[in-house]
Amino acid sequence: MSKKAKIILDESEHELPVVTGTEGEKAIDIRQLRNRTGYVTLDAGYMNTGSTTSDITYLDGEQGVLRYRGIPIEELAEKSTFVETSYLLIYGKLPTADELERFSSLLTYHSMIHEGMRHFFDGYPSRGHPMALLAAMICSLSAYYPDSLDPNLNTDTHITRLLSKIRTIAAFGYKKSIGQPIMYPRNDLSYCANFLYMMFAVPAEPYDPDPDVVQALNTLLILHADHEQNCSTSTVRMVGSSNANLYASISAGICALWGPLHGGANQAVIEMLQDIEDSGGDPRKFMNEVKDKASGRRLMGFGHRVYKSYDPRAKVLKSMADKLLAKLGVDDPLLDIAKNLESIALEDDYFVERNLYPNVDFYSGILYKAIGIPTDMFTVMFSLGRLPGWIAQWKEMMEDPSRKIGRPRQVYTGENARRYVPLDQRA
Ligand code: ACO
Repeated sequence: MSKKAKIILDESEHELPVVTGTEGEKAIDIRQLRNRTGYVTLDAGYMNTGSTTSDITYLDGEQGVLRYRGIPIEELAEKSTFVETSYLLIYGKLPTADELERFSSLLTYHSMIHEGMRHFFDGYPSRGHPMALLAAMICSLSAYYPDSLDPNLNTDTHITRLLSKIRTIAAFGYKKSIGQPIMYPRNDLSYCANFLYMMFAVPAEPYDPDPDVVQALNTLLILHADHEQNCSTSTVRMVGSSNANLYASISAGICALWGPLHGGANQAVIEMLQDIEDSGGDPRKFMNEVKDKASGRRLMGFGHRVYKSYDPRAKVLKSMADKLLAKLGVDDPLLDIAKNLESIALEDDYFVERNLYPNVDFYSGILYKAIGIPTDMFTVMFSLGRLPGWIAQWKEMMEDPSRKIGRPRQVYTGENARRYVPLDQRA
């Protein structure tokens, strides 16, 4: 017999179905609750609300487990490439050699942007935040590809187009901001190598991306690639649920990711570490400030809504930071400060009692900095990485025949009905 939940309201008992996921996660299906009882549930911040069922990513925050389509991210980080992982997320299976070849060729084919779009970069203030530029440019792609306005048309073309063009847009924006000529993509390079080329090559000199840096970038992007129903992904689904086109939905996700409590934390981590370094490099003093709630400071890159143990992505990145910085000969005092902060936090009651551990953003900034990515582009890098996850979640939603427009309820707490008072009669 299938399990049911019982709820007693105004002395009547109501049965609600229980849904169980493939990893044993349980949920009470309340979709009929309001129709049957007149009640809604109240869950600000969606702390306890499952907004969808999904086959894409499994996350166990207590055990520190993260899998894409069933495959642990540690294995993908070690053995896969970002392009292959993108295919896995979007199409639900590892590609065959032919499928991977075709997918990679499409990414190469779509790497240029419309020449008309270059004028946007000319008009954009060079000191404007690159996330503002990225969100605007990604949304603007819908104007260049108007068939995208029907979100059911040519989906695979739009998917590869978007995955490919986002790195060109990100790199062109950077080149414009530093006053260098933009570098067009090179078809002989892999996805990540091509991005590094467009970022760091200059016309007068040969440039061959360092294979270790290419591999590090693959790993970073893989670790960012999906994280189930977080703030930006839920935003992509919410916007897409109105049948808005793919580019508009992803642009909204980029805006949501920008906030410092979400993807913007990687920039905030480096700024915090730099602050500590500039004021004498004493992590204990900073930690005392963090624990004093009146200071309003947080240890950025620590804590997570879902992980109540070490974020598995942070584990991979921490060991990668040691290796990559050594290989590149970078001696970054910020890495030492970060490690000091972590060891203090792991033994401090304040952090232990609240289950606060490093999240993905704690070490990713140090790696991006070592690769040469400017601080204000860290969240752009996160967007590049998260894109296949957003696309996979959007596609899964669009292909669900029982899909409904996202539209939460509320409990109104304002004034009761009252009359309009003309201006000359107001006190
Ligand atoms: N530093 C200090 N204290 C913290 C931190 C932190 N980083 N994070 C949480 N706390 C404390 C809170 O003050 C609160 O303490 P209290 O119970 O005494 O009031 C308790 O821990 C619980 O914190 P909440 O804010 O209620 O936890 P929530 O799940 O809502 O927030 C969040 C999660 C936003 C990630 C939070 O931990 C945070 O602000 N971290 C820093 C920003 C950050 O690194 N964000 C990136 C997240 S990963 C990502 O989005 C990719």
